[in-house]
Amino acid sequence: LGMLKSFKYIIIGGGVAAGYAAREFNRQGLKPGQLAIISKEAVAPYERPALSKGYLNLNPKAAARLPGFYVCVGSGGERLPPDWYKEKGIQLILGTEIVKVNLGLKTLISAAGEIFKFQRLIIATGSTVIRLTDFKVEGADAKNIFYLRELEDANKLVETIKMNQNGKVVIVGGGYIGLEVAAAMRINDFHVTMVYPEPWCMPRLFTPTIAAFYESYYENKGIKIIKGTVAIGFNANVNGEVKGVKLKDGRVVEADIVVVGVGARPLTTLFKGQLEEEKGGIKTDGFFKTSVPGVYAVGDVATFPMKLYNESRRVEHVDHARKSAEQAVKAIKANETGTELEEYDYLPYFYSRSFELSWQFYGDNVGETVFFGDNNSLSPKPKFGSYWIKDGKVVGAFLEGGTPEENKALAKVSRLKCPVENLDQLKKEGLLFASKF
Ligand code: FDA
Ligand code: NAD
Repeated sequence: LGMLKSFKYIIIGGGVAAGYAAREFNRQGLKPGQLAIISKEAVAPYERPALSKGYLNLNPKAAARLPGFYVCVGSGGERLPPDWYKEKGIQLILGTEIVKVNLGLKTLISAAGEIFKFQRLIIATGSTVIRLTDFKVEGADAKNIFYLRELEDANKLVETIKMNQNGKVVIVGGGYIGLEVAAAMRINDFHVTMVYPEPWCMPRLFTPTIAAFYESYYENKGIKIIKGTVAIGFNANVNGEVKGVKLKDGRVVEADIVVVGVGARPLTTLFKGQLEEEKGGIKTDGFFKTSVPGVYAVGDVATFPMKLYNESRRVEHVDHARKSAEQAVKAIKANETGTELEEYDYLPYFYSRSFELSWQFYGDNVGETVFFGDNNSLSPKPKFGSYWIKDGKVVGAFLEGGTPEENKALAKVSRLKCPVENLDQLKKEGLLFASKF
């Protein structure tokens, strides 16, 4: 037991939520030695979204690199480099994977056999990628087939990009990773082909009309899109390097590099049988308390009550990772001081950027949709959006190319669930509708 280390607070996971939680602990008042962050990654918490955008840029002037994107710059705050944690007496225990948890004994055990004891635990283990090898896709373990989740993944990809300049890349998946990485690779002058099974990209959020704009924009940039089929296998050369992607429809697409983005899965396995789960995540209340006293779960792993829609949901996006982390720390402190805290009342907020494009979405994408604006993909400055209307009220709003004020207005109408009398009128008004509230 010589290796036992004890902390009042431990955060397991050193990603986005961990970084924002550390800042909040410091704001609320923290003594040196009270808090430890234990992370499998070798670096201090950083803004993960950079990995599929600026980090992949081969142009050294445009490339995002640490320390540039340590948390909390992503939301307009100050950067927290490793020295910040040192100054505050927060232990960053990096390169350390927790492999066993005993919530009853309040202990965590690392792969190297170290034992950590906590009084309060925040689970912030995030997600891991779904792999094609999980579905036993033939040849999916070939070299130069990449996934993107952590800095180390991005570093390997960047190294390979440098060695295959002007080569061919196939992107498997038409979701967030697919769309962002396809753009980054095209900017790097690669020949890019995207392959995805659905009839349009980002079907979880985009309407066919919204998707048609992005597909056409990408095609104008020289990206080839193959829809409605999946990769069923990979060809490799004698060195075991991927050379082709075999599609279900019989075609084979040449490739020097393959990047796969077919979804993520929350990392909850360590806690199986010890915590209540719901909808694939760790069940929490509106303070991110789990079913075990003193144990909190935030970010991608938490299934929490979404007050606005009166149901529990899990959210795999950075804005919620930041806000849930802050809420959990506030709840821990409120609990200690016996003060009141309002329940989490989250308005979903998702965004993406690629090429010169930038969209934001607020609220819920359910009900009827009303499209507005200029979605000609050849326009110099395309600007369009969509409202989602349910029971006569706006519940969600999407905008490409909006200004900060316009995006704020969309957030407001979605939060307030503003009533709509006439859909034709709404279509005519477009953005004007939101600006009235
Ligand atoms: P996060 O994944 O950030 O951190 C989890 C940490 O826990 C990791 O450091 C991991 O190594 C560690 N860990 C896991 N198990 C462990 C163990 N057993 N022991 C020790 N450490 C362990 N969202 C968005 O809204 N806009 C965007 O543009 C993007 N872009 C984007 C790009 C890419 C490439 C990815 C992968 C994801 C995004 N996202 C995004 C999603 C967003 O990044 C994600 O929702 C948050 O990072 C979630 O924050 P968490 O802190 O919950 O997990
Ligand atoms: P995703 O869920 O956004 O997209 C998955 C896509 O994979 C689907 O749309 C589909 O086209 C495709 N797919 C599914 N099964 C397939 C198969 N067998 N073969 C080929 N394609 C298949 O997931 P992702 O893009 O992998 O992103 C991973 C995680 O990272 C998610 O949590 C996401 O929220 C997060 N992320 C978010 C952003 C952002 O918010 N801007 C950016 C990057 C990543």
